[in-house]
Amino acid sequence: MTRIVLLGPPGAGKGTQAARLADALGVPAVSTGDIFRANIAGGTELGRTAQGYTSRGELVPDEVTNAMVASRLAEADAAAGFLLDGYPRNVAQVSELDAILARHGVRLDAAVELTADTEVVVGRLLHRATVEGREDDTEPVIRHRLEVYREQTAPIAALYAERGLLVRVDGIGEVADVTERLLTALRPAA
Ligand code: AP5
Ligand code: MG
Repeated sequence: MTRIVLLGPPGAGKGTQAARLADALGVPAVSTGDIFRANIAGGTELGRTAQGYTSRGELVPDEVTNAMVASRLAEADAAAGFLLDGYPRNVAQVSELDAILARHGVRLDAAVELTADTEVVVGRLLHRATVEGREDDTEPVIRHRLEVYREQTAPIAALYAERGLLVRVDGIGEVADVTERLLTALRPAA
């Protein structure tokens, strides 16, 4: 059983590493950003609600995001564990995740904070803009996402640290090396 939250600024490598850890640990990676982008591409009502926020680099309102995560984590494949990439992202979402897990009678094993310097992540995301064309990978929106991270998301690392769940892993270096670091750091939990 492996229930892990991945924290870290935009561009730290959460999505890249979540996919690799999901393979290694045999649990699904659940990315709130990916779910929003799939809904935007599919023209759903959820997508129409989310798009104004994601395009500006603002958090989508908690009631929308929380309901989406509660329903995703109730799916059968998440019963044996999950890697959450991009959720929770503020203190209220930490409480909602606590409530979801309590309903399922389970607990979180670890909250991993992937660290990376601001200028490195900005460089990675500007490069990704040329490859994937994500609407929010423009320099002003990237800088705003970093500010939102600092203000709203970074403080939740302290909450998980108080619970003894926080693990910090250096996100700089080759992708495979970072995965190895993560697996080593998670060994006691995973
Ligand atoms: P989200 O999709 O989560 O975006 P983000 O947090 O800004 O993070 P990124 O996906 O940009 O970066 P990442 O850390 O996943 O890095 P990646 O592996 O891609 O959220 C998007 C939006 O959705 C939010 O702004 C918000 O509007 C909304 N949203 C999402 N969750 C929400 C929530 N809980 N509440 C409310 N709103 C929410 O890597 C980045 C690039 O670097 C890639 O090109 C990759 O190939 C490259 N790279 C990765 N690792 C390395 C490495 N080791 N060396 C060199 N390059 C690397
Ligand atoms: Mg991502």
